[in-house]
Amino acid sequence: MTSLAVSDHQAETATPAKVIQPVWVRIVHWVNAFAMILMIMSGWQIYNASPLFSFTFSHSITLGGWLGGALLWHFAAMWLLMVNGLVYLALGFATGRFRKKLLPITPGGVIADTKAALTFKLSHDDLSKYNSVQKLLYTGIITVGVVIVLSGLSMWKPVQLHWLVSLFGGYDIARYVHFTCMALIVAFLVIHVALALLVPKSLRAMLIGREGGYYGSSQKTPDPRCRQEAAGARCGEDDAGADAPPLHHGRHQPRRADAAHRLRRGRFVVGGGIAEEGLEVQ
Ligand code: HEM
Repeated sequence: MTSLAVSDHQAETATPAKVIQPVWVRIVHWVNAFAMILMIMSGWQIYNASPLFSFTFSHSITLGGWLGGALLWHFAAMWLLMVNGLVYLALGFATGRFRKKLLPITPGGVIADTKAALTFKLSHDDLSKYNSVQKLLYTGIITVGVVIVLSGLSMWKPVQLHWLVSLFGGYDIARYVHFTCMALIVAFLVIHVALALLVPKSLRAMLIGREGGYYGSSQKTPDPRCRQEAAGARCGEDDAGADAPPLHHGRHQPRRADAAHRLRRGRFVVGGGIAEEGLEVQ
């Protein structure tokens, strides 16, 4: 037998760990989280200058130091939040992510998943699919995000955007709407971060894209399809186009089973050829 032996089992079963959160989702998500936190903390300082209710926010959790400083922070972060939010909405619709990941939301599904969550029976095995409660929360918070930006714009330019002010029923109501959206976002954030910490693999996926390592815990052999990812090809992603056969030097990459088959038929060059195809030589 030749010294060249390839584990057929590994060759045929090793696939890259599935990409759960594509890179664009991760980037916009964390930019959004950063911008939201700046907006909330500076917003609290602005609120303190003219409170709507009988309470104010502790100086220690506000940003900007005083009204003028807070306004500067708020408007600077606003551009980041708005541009980033528009990118997220555009890509969410264009790639079909919203349709695939956030729909459908049915009352029956929400009730069943809420019950399961409250009795700790909700499964987190497949992170690539959101449960009905997540779908509802994410769709809801995206809508709240749109409303908070629109109500903020109406208060920023009430003369130029008078139609927007009218849509909210007047400047004062827009202020209450803006505050309510902030409260909903803060409540969402508390629950969202707590759940992310309770299911750390979901947090890992939002940081590195995958649940575990690049090839998953049991994967030893790299997949040539994935090595192309940095060059633009994607592997295991859920988004549109992920199923298309990835290209390798301008031609279709052989499937792993095909690669093993070709190897058995001696069509690989020892060393460079094997390494090139990413197969393990024992
Ligand atoms: C700063 C702390 C935050 C942490 C640790 C965090 C964590 C996460 C994690 C782990 C997921 C994936 C959930 C899963 O796969 O089950 C996620 C998704 C999501 N988060 Fe956050 N998040 C944070 C802030 C925010 C903020 C401020 C917002 C919006 C106000 C937000 C909105 C979302 C949305 C809409 C998704 C679903 C994204 C999609 O699938 O397109 N997150 N977050």
